Amino acid sequence: MQPSSTTVGDLIADVADRFAAGNLYYGHGTDNAEDEAAWLVFSVAGLSWGAGPAVYREAVSGSDRERIDALAARRIHERRPLAYLLNEAWFAGLKFYVDERVLVPRSPIAELIHERFEPWVRPDSVHRILDLGTGSGCIAIAAATAFDDAKVDAVDISADALAVAAINVDAHELGSRVETIESDLFDALGNSRYDLIIANPPYVDADDMMARAEEFRHEPSLGLASGKDGLDATRRILQQASRFLNDDGILVCEVGNSQPALEAAYPDVPFIWLTFEHGGAGVFVLNKHNLEELCQATASDKTS
Ligand SMILES: C[S@@+](CC[C@H](N)C(=O)[O-])C[C@H]1O[C@@H](n2cnc3c(N)ncnc32)[C@H](O)[C@@H]1O
Repeated sequence: MQPSSTTVGDLIADVADRFAAGNLYYGHGTDNAEDEAAWLVFSVAGLSWGAGPAVYREAVSGSDRERIDALAARRIHERRPLAYLLNEAWFAGLKFYVDERVLVPRSPIAELIHERFEPWVRPDSVHRILDLGTGSGCIAIAAATAFDDAKVDAVDISADALAVAAINVDAHELGSRVETIESDLFDALGNSRYDLIIANPPYVDADDMMARAEEFRHEPSLGLASGKDGLDATRRILQQASRFLNDDGILVCEVGNSQPALEAAYPDVPFIWLTFEHGGAGVFVLNKHNLEELCQATASDKTS
């Protein structure tokens, strides 16, 4: 029970203690109990992340405290990601609506979007972007924000996910430049060509799916699982991407923990593995030429 005038700082410390005692798994927007508690308190109390340190001495209203208390209890007992309890997630500095129809945004690709994919592309030459496996639409929307005259196709096989993406496209007022498309990877894209294909496909292998923490079981497995070695979707992307790239175009694709399996499966492909200042790994870049060579090598393997 909190005293009658609890401050923001005290409440964050109290919730963080409860989270720490609950042995929660983090990884859906934060990576520790304190940040998760601060997110909950700031969100419910309607506080701005830009507010100075004085905000920690402000009192939290009784009704906000009750709501925070109830959500903290659900976070602990249900092991449900906080993003779903709050229906909000942050990606590339932008706010997104999320619910259980989509994965909680967390891709390190946010950092690349912030850098406008330099030095891998010349930003002023990027006019058409494809976001493959768009989920909440976070990558498509952040990319459209970073490349302010580009058109972005946001593709997903899940109509449920696309309904969430559409909410976010509307909220960010990007309906004129971001189109949501229901498609099994490239299947519905006809003759479209892109300067940049960004893919965060499902890539969790069967062992990791079995062992995943309770928090990940609230997420749609369609967004996570990709066959025994986690590479079913990525193999198809590698085979098809070159046909959808303009001559100077690139593919940026995340495979996370399946990086070693991918390198073992394609030992001759010159993947460039990117490094990140703010954490994350398992994201590669290939250009159209690399992808064409990969297709030729696969075709000649089949005929020999
Ligand atoms: C790892 S989630 C990425 C979501 C979002 N881009 C993000 O970064 O948070 C993968 C997404 O790919 C979608 N997906 C799975 N298989 C697909 C397929 N064959 N074609 C298109 N999308 C697919 C899932 O529905 C899911 O939304």
